[in-house]
Amino acid sequence: MKKQKLILLYGIALSICCLSCNHSASRTNDSWIDSTINYCEQQAHKTLISIPDINKIPNSIDADSTNWTYTPIGTWTCGFWPGILWYLYENTKDNYWKEAAEKVTEQIVPLGYQKARTHDSGFIMMCSLGNGYRLTGNATYKESLLHAADSLATLYNPIVGTLLSWPNMVQKENWPHNTIIDNMMNLELLFWAAKNGGPHKLYDIACRHAQTTMKYQFRKDYSCYHVAVYDTLDGHFIKGVTHQGLNDRSMWARGQAWAIYGYTMAYRETKNAEFLDFAQKATNVFLQRLPADHIPYWDFDAQEISTSEPRDASAAAIAASALLELSTYVTNTDNARYYRTEAIAMLRKLSSSDYQSRNSKSSFLLHSVGHMHRNWEVDASICYADYYYLEALTRLKRLEENEKILTNL
Ligand code: GLY
Repeated sequence: MKKQKLILLYGIALSICCLSCNHSASRTNDSWIDSTINYCEQQAHKTLISIPDINKIPNSIDADSTNWTYTPIGTWTCGFWPGILWYLYENTKDNYWKEAAEKVTEQIVPLGYQKARTHDSGFIMMCSLGNGYRLTGNATYKESLLHAADSLATLYNPIVGTLLSWPNMVQKENWPHNTIIDNMMNLELLFWAAKNGGPHKLYDIACRHAQTTMKYQFRKDYSCYHVAVYDTLDGHFIKGVTHQGLNDRSMWARGQAWAIYGYTMAYRETKNAEFLDFAQKATNVFLQRLPADHIPYWDFDAQEISTSEPRDASAAAIAASALLELSTYVTNTDNARYYRTEAIAMLRKLSSSDYQSRNSKSSFLLHSVGHMHRNWEVDASICYADYYYLEALTRLKRLEENEKILTNL
């Protein structure tokens, strides 16, 4: 009952704020950020009370639906919902969210002891157990994370110098040793483990993966291929192709966002200036090609086909979160301000009635694209868009309070 009253008050505060919101991108104020985080809390509460069973993880809501589709424990997206619950606990310090987060996170603990089937264990484990461990120090989470990192490292091929991302695509697509750009995100689990009692070789693997990817997976303009294919036996780079992008030459929006986030995180963990420089190069091409309203099309080259191609709110949310972190590392103050301003502009647009679900659905955001070619989650609400949106808002709140950037490590 107390919770419901609180949520109602947040709703009123949000409506007042929406009416008085200043849409300047270069300045922000605490009330805007607080009320947007409160909006997320309100939406998540609606989702939480609608879940029929603890093993059902809210995954996405199709454009023409109001109902969540659920994903089982073990899929690549299963860590985002518990991650959202942890970020809500972090923001509110309300045990309601902690208890909800713990219930789901417990279901994920056993995954750490399984053989890594893909590179995705980094997403799964760090968003759920990683955030949970950071906020509670729960030793069960730590142990599972350490096992998961060892297991992820079994996908490493030292001749190539990267992790194999998709073992199932070796035969299916004839992509012998394939590494997708998304895999940069999962290096965070290896860095985390090396710092938390795991073997140092996990750090070395993560560094080499980032270096090899930097060398082969980017074009001259620093846009990336979704997939880099290498020879398993002699390690040479065979080709760069796409899986989810428009074509092999195009810049798939979420892929480029993963690259920005991944190299910013790699710099954080290594202080290797090459990674910082590279994160900026990957960022600059993303920002230069953004439409005026700051939300990318699902693929940057899709806008050449038609301006009615769908946008991808998830790519904007991931990039915004990464740019806030990047803005704290660059020494050039103009660049730092530029990255922060652009991140805020993306978050402002995502927080408008064009992108927030509000009363239409209980997700935070509308208009993301999961997999265009398969017609999966096109123009949908998707859990990872919501996760990185809330992460970015939480990061921005901290920065506005002159606190250190929030990271998962
Ligand atoms: N990691 C898969 C995707 O971004 O769709």
